[in-house]
Amino acid sequence: MTKIKKAIIPAAGLGTRFLPATKAMPKEMLPIVDRPTIEYIVEEAVNSGIEDIIIVTGKGKRAIEDHFDYSLELEENLVKKEKFDLLDKIKKSANVEIHYIRQKQPKGLGHAIWCARKFIGNEPFAVLLGDDIVKSEKPCLRQLIDQFEETNSSIIGVQRVPDEDTHRYGIIDPLEKSDRRYQVKNFVEKPEKGTAPSNLAIIGRYILTPEIFDFLDKQQIGAGGEVQLTDAIEQLNQFQRVFAYEFTGKRYDVGEKLGFIQTTIEFGLNREDLRGPLEDYLKEITKNINQSKV
Ligand code: G1P
Repeated sequence: MTKIKKAIIPAAGLGTRFLPATKAMPKEMLPIVDRPTIEYIVEEAVNSGIEDIIIVTGKGKRAIEDHFDYSLELEENLVKKEKFDLLDKIKKSANVEIHYIRQKQPKGLGHAIWCARKFIGNEPFAVLLGDDIVKSEKPCLRQLIDQFEETNSSIIGVQRVPDEDTHRYGIIDPLEKSDRRYQVKNFVEKPEKGTAPSNLAIIGRYILTPEIFDFLDKQQIGAGGEVQLTDAIEQLNQFQRVFAYEFTGKRYDVGEKLGFIQTTIEFGLNREDLRGPLEDYLKEITKNINQSKV
């Protein structure tokens, strides 16, 4: 049985949904409370047993590399001030190696994954997208790796989304289901409104066999004029089985503004140092909102 040891985190997107905040700062560095979003993704990968991560970056993404690097000056400063709790927070994780590669043109998710093909070589691997943070008892990626260990096949993480939102996602056309695992007839990227075959959406976690690169090699242009990973998965599924797995856990969409604000509030409420005052504040402003409605 091949172990899943490598993961790709694409982080080359332009972050247009968060302009102007992302004009000079990568969207992956936007903080949820006090940790950049990409740190939650890396943490999930490490907690799932990943040993090597390659982050696919692009222009203006230097801050990501600096974030995961040593910062000797800062570490010395915190030691001097005896701020050991903060020191722990900024120290590099010893359990994972992070590597970088640049996507030289913004040609889409499929192209970003293809850029990491030489790093992956001929072994199955994971992909985690930075716009989705998942909170669950067992890390979302670990749930998929466990499925891979049972099936030895590619597995795509899915969850149900409201019908009116299906056009924003990769959607599966499910066949048989056993427990939470589906056989899939088709994978469709961003179906037009009213045409989605189901409301089971691909949510940013994938385990893929290396054969996916045979299809990504074609660099076929799909939805939105981009090379789509979902299109390559659809082709792979015609050739070797690709399953979908309805993972458990709550998914936070930090890739859009409302989701980002909701995530910040919920994560803040889960923090002991913030819960009390934040709850008081929320009560107060909701009271004011209700009063102004009357
Ligand atoms: C990407 C994928 C899509 C998936 C989504 C999940 O789309 O292409 O299949 O459903 O992530 O967040 P994007 O949100 O980058 O447009």
